[in-house]
Amino acid sequence: MAIERLGIVGSGIMGSGIAEVAARAGITVVLRSRKQDTADGMVAALGASLAKQVDRGRLDEAEATAVRERVSATADLDALADCDMVIESVVEDLDVKKQLFADLDRIVKDGAILASNTSTLPVIEMAVQTGRPEQVCGVHFFNPAPAMKLVEIVRTLASSDDTVAAAREFAERCGKSPVVVEDRAGFIVNALLFPYLNNAVRMLENRTASRDDIDAAMMGGCNFPMGPLALLDLVGLDTSVAILDALYEEFRDPNYAAVPLLRRMVTAGHLGRKSGRGFYDYTKK
Ligand SMILES: NC(=O)c1ccc[n+]([C@@H]2O[C@H](COP(=O)([O-])OP(=O)(O)OC[C@H]3O[C@@H](n4cnc5c(N)ncnc54)[C@H](O)[C@@H]3O)[C@@H](O)[C@H]2O)c1
Repeated sequence: MAIERLGIVGSGIMGSGIAEVAARAGITVVLRSRKQDTADGMVAALGASLAKQVDRGRLDEAEATAVRERVSATADLDALADCDMVIESVVEDLDVKKQLFADLDRIVKDGAILASNTSTLPVIEMAVQTGRPEQVCGVHFFNPAPAMKLVEIVRTLASSDDTVAAAREFAERCGKSPVVVEDRAGFIVNALLFPYLNNAVRMLENRTASRDDIDAAMMGGCNFPMGPLALLDLVGLDTSVAILDALYEEFRDPNYAAVPLLRRMVTAGHLGRKSGRGFYDYTKK
């Protein structure tokens, strides 16, 4: 099934990035946020980001207008009824996602694919909330979605081959390089990445080295484009704790147990770039 009309639920970092990627691939996007003004704000932010790309000569004016016009914003879940695929990208909380899948199953037309952008949660738990578990899979984009090439297509025990094929085709149309992975917490990338990120926070906490030296060491010594603490700020510390909790819940490996400093920072509201402060301060220009 070709995906011509895509619904996205959640207008945070990832929902907005996926909307831009899909609209640039020529797909009509309906973006749903709980509040109309948040949804409208996101479309305005997309317009501003496209205008910047036009100014820099990376996109022509007509194409920017066409991309912008392909995206509409709504606070009404019913507006997703006609979509060929809906990707949810709301908070990393299984109960919230389960309820959302039950609602989407009621609303979205028969035959449409319901997908999750979850980083770690069991996609089968969402699939069994619906009457179409064979048409549910994970479509896991990376942050920032417009720049990152990888999409993990997550196949649950119930996903049909047609669903996995359609999700893969959608990712390729978006200019991405998909991989297919079984439904295990963290899939490929986060299962390997998060013990490393967590241990970087542990090193900071036990004063093995300073923030700047930990990040500089991994960039200079491993050729990584950014250090682990800067990467945690980009991902969002609340999302990172949720990812570690889901990994720990599934595997009980101590490397996945979020270190206390990370949890305390979330409690303090130091969530990384999105709140203006994490391991680094983003309020200074
Ligand atoms: N941040 C990353 O690097 C990254 C990368 C890939 C996938 N993801 C996944 O994408 C999803 C969203 O993450 P994000 O980084 O965009 O988070 P975010 O905090 O930027 O956005 C979360 C969105 O969920 C909405 N939300 C919060 N509580 C809700 C509720 N009870 N009901 C409905 N909506 C609710 C918020 O309004 C917001 O629009 C998560 O599943 C996360 O694991 C995140």
